Amino acid sequence: MTHDQNPDSEIWENQQKIDSQQIRIGHYVARLSLHWEKTPFLLQGFLIADESEVNWIRRHCDWAVIDLQKSRANARPGATPRQVTSPNLLAKPAVLSRSPLTAASMRTSLTNYLNLSAEAERLIQHFDRLESINVRKTIHVVKDIALTLTANLPALVWLTRIKHEDRYTAEHCINVSLLAMGLANALGRSPKEVAQVGIAGLLHDLGKIDIDASILNKTGRLTPEEYEHMKQHSQFGYDRLRQEPDMSPRILEAILGHHERPDGHGYPRGLVGDQIDEMASIVGLVDAYDAITSNRVYQQARSHHEAMSILWRMRGTQFDKTLVEAFIQFMGWVTPGTLVSLSTGDLAVVVQAVEGQRLYPKVRILMPTSEGYHLGATWDLSTMAQIEGQEPVTIRDVKPDGYLGIRLEDYAASLLQS
Ligand SMILES: [Fe+2]
Repeated sequence: MTHDQNPDSEIWENQQKIDSQQIRIGHYVARLSLHWEKTPFLLQGFLIADESEVNWIRRHCDWAVIDLQKSRANARPGATPRQVTSPNLLAKPAVLSRSPLTAASMRTSLTNYLNLSAEAERLIQHFDRLESINVRKTIHVVKDIALTLTANLPALVWLTRIKHEDRYTAEHCINVSLLAMGLANALGRSPKEVAQVGIAGLLHDLGKIDIDASILNKTGRLTPEEYEHMKQHSQFGYDRLRQEPDMSPRILEAILGHHERPDGHGYPRGLVGDQIDEMASIVGLVDAYDAITSNRVYQQARSHHEAMSILWRMRGTQFDKTLVEAFIQFMGWVTPGTLVSLSTGDLAVVVQAVEGQRLYPKVRILMPTSEGYHLGATWDLSTMAQIEGQEPVTIRDVKPDGYLGIRLEDYAASLLQS
């Protein structure tokens, strides 16, 4: 056990230090004896949701500081334990882990992804030529994906993690479309709404066609005047797409409002809170997530975990609180396609998160060969953790795509053959 933290510093009112063996589901953990970065927990300050988290803390930490006010009433000291339900939002969002990543779903998803990619390229070429676009085909391609979304989500999320700097514009539109559909689907929205938010995601920045190219492609910081001009892209996109007979008012509203923010500091209308349409908020949130996790001219890509922490800190101000919580639950701590190193020293790729066991996903081991790494055996870390007398295998670290020359897209192809 490690004692990285001073137990007695900064224990606030409403907080209590307890022995790690006393930790249980429903406790809100404010601090652990182990430094946060050495734990698998995504966020500093979290509610314990399942037994795997309880076991991890009992095994690796000496003590925990819990927040009594934020802990569920039945988990506070002295309360009688009873069956607890998960902390919740409006309704529990569906999580990625529900459907397995199979060769068949990867095959369907790759076809869908390539269709969407061709559509994004077509739209961008039209942007360049300042031509009007025909959105009928766009709608058709996105609807096809929405119809089979639930079964193919893990594979589609894997594909959104494959990034090429020189294809940022197209890939960003595709990723925003897919992640927006994933989040809407997780929130239980109807297939029609899922498709609508997917179309809005693909077209959200179309208005940049009318932004001065020197400002659009500027690598340095924008002047206040340039920024004001750039901010007009949501209105420009709305104005162009309003002319299209197939565009629904809901999609148009999402495009117009994707930079509105709950605290009223967004644009173009400076709407606040509930005045912002949910679809606009979904597109705005996943737009930010994909931008944070991509390499940009002015900024290095941040990891999935860092992006989640950034969004978490901005919940309620920059992004809708409920949506941020739902997005974090939906994507999970490790998403399919995450490259990880294990406590055994092996490298592996996450193929499926296991619901309620977020510390122990299902992984494919990467076997070192003279020609690089090949996909090896599948390990279900949640099953392995239950084997008596055997030290559980855990994720030690999350590695960026490209680590040791390992590229996710190579393994997407291998998965098709498995
Ligand atoms: Fe935008």
